[in-house]
This record gives sequence, C-alpha cells and structure tokens, in this order.
Amino acid sequence: NWILLDDQLVKEEQVNISKEDRGYQFGDGVYEVIRIYEGDLFTGQEHIDRFYESAQKIRLVIPYTKDVLQKMVHELVEANEVINGYVYMQITRGASPRQHQFPEQGQPVLTGYTKLMERPIELMRNGVHAKFVEDVRWLRCDIKSLNLLGNVLAKQEAMENDCYEAVLHRGETVTEGSSSNVYGIKDGVIYTHPADNHILNGITRREIIAVCAELGIPFEEKAFTKEAAHTMDELFISSTTAEVLPVTVLDAQPIGDGTPGETTRRLQQAFERRLG
Ligand code: PDD
Repeated sequence: NWILLDDQLVKEEQVNISKEDRGYQFGDGVYEVIRIYEGDLFTGQEHIDRFYESAQKIRLVIPYTKDVLQKMVHELVEANEVINGYVYMQITRGASPRQHQFPEQGQPVLTGYTKLMERPIELMRNGVHAKFVEDVRWLRCDIKSLNLLGNVLAKQEAMENDCYEAVLHRGETVTEGSSSNVYGIKDGVIYTHPADNHILNGITRREIIAVCAELGIPFEEKAFTKEAAHTMDELFISSTTAEVLPVTVLDAQPIGDGTPGETTRRLQQAFERRLG
C-alpha cells in the first residue's frame, strides 16, 4: 500500500515520523476522513476545503495548494486500487524540541493512507443504540483537531454499555455524537444543533440539509434538550463512514416504537441516490 507523505506517494517503510512530532506529543494538527465509493471520492472538494479551514483555525499553513493536495489524494486512491473505503489524512505542526509554543522553524508533516470499508448496511437497516454522555470537550469543536480525548472517552463509555454511539450533551443541550452529528425528528421537522463552535459542521450533515431541501422536509438548525430527545418521533446520526444511521434506543429507552422511522428511511434512500 502507498502512503501520502507530504506531497509524495511513498511505501510504508519509508515513513519515519519523529518522536517529537507535535501531532504525537500535543495533538497539534488537524485531520479529515473522506469516503471512497466505487473508486471515487465522495464530496472530496468539501473535505479538502474543511481541511484547509481547520488548519487555518489553528494557524497552521498547509504548504501545498488545494489543487496539488486533491491531485495527490486522487493518486493515492488510484495507486491503492481502493473500490470502497476511505482516505484518512492529517497534518501536524511537525517535529521540534518539545515546547508548547509554536516552533520557530518547523515543517508541517502530512500523512495520508487508505483503508477498505464496506457500507454499514446492517446498521443502516436495523439502527443502533446510543447513550448520553456529558460533553466535556473544549469550545472549538468546529475544528477537526487531532485532540480527540473527549471523543475517545465518550465512545468508550458508550461501547462499554453496548451502545454504538455516545450522544453528547452540554448540560441539558444535545450537541453531537462522539464521531457523528445527531438529529431529532418531531412532527415531521428535523432538528439539529447549529453549526457553531460546539459541533463539527459535518459534510454528511450538509448533504442531509441538501437532501431535505430536495424532498421538502423542514430542517431546523435548532438545538434540543436531553429531555426532548426522549420524546422525538425519530432520532438519527450521520458521518462520513456511518452515513445515516437510525438511533432506535437512547439510554435504554426506545425512540418512538424502537424501530427505524419513516423519515430516516427516506433520508437514507435520498442520500444513497447522491452516491451514484
Ligand atoms: N468523524 N462530529 C464529530 C465529532 C465527528 O468526529 C464527525 C466525523 C462528524 C461528522 O462529520 P462528517 O459528516 O464530515 O464525517 C461530526 C469522522 C468520520 C471520524 O473521526 O472518523
């Protein structure tokens, strides 16, 4: 398998990341996950754009143009002959003697690789269970940062309770999932937290908004409470790798009748049409 290292495709053995890389020591970097369907990047441009936005928000200058990076990512996918899978890429502020402030001279380090992955058909059909976990992350969740400890601890807590996802809440307000966005549907209207500093503005979320406009489903970027979540007719999550997944049980209580709902199904079908 080929790896993207800075702006070159290299073999895995040629990748030698420093023990003092700031990604490794501080989580000082940003990342993206881009889905590959039938050999093609899905919403590749949007992911590349968000990668540059995240980098800019942490004052890291990516030393390549978007066009060069996009071309390299395409070459990586082709070289690895990926049919269904994803690209993971990250850029860090590079290696320098350990000190918190930015290094005076430092070269960012970019790495990217591909993984094979099929669509989560079973989960999409049957839905998943979720658990509420207090959102104790920092206040710049709009940045797709390598610092994922809050997300990691939340997901682990969910998994240990036989749940697929943690639904995070700040006090009474539902924010997002540990690695997904979260939506509630009540009386035909879809609600989700506004894309401010408390959540990641998901690319799948943007696709869902477009789908809703297409289907004429009312969509409101309006946060809802933990209590309201339990009384929703339907609940679902979205992400690049999970697509649209119904949440059928939340904190051991069924949502609606405890099976995937009609509107979520319609969204899944409309989303699927955009992949083709
Ligand atoms: N996670 N919120 C968080 C905290 C996320 O980590 C993700 C994605 C999303 C959904 O964003 P998008 O639709 O652009 O994938 C929302 C990726 C897939 C991950 O870390 O694996």
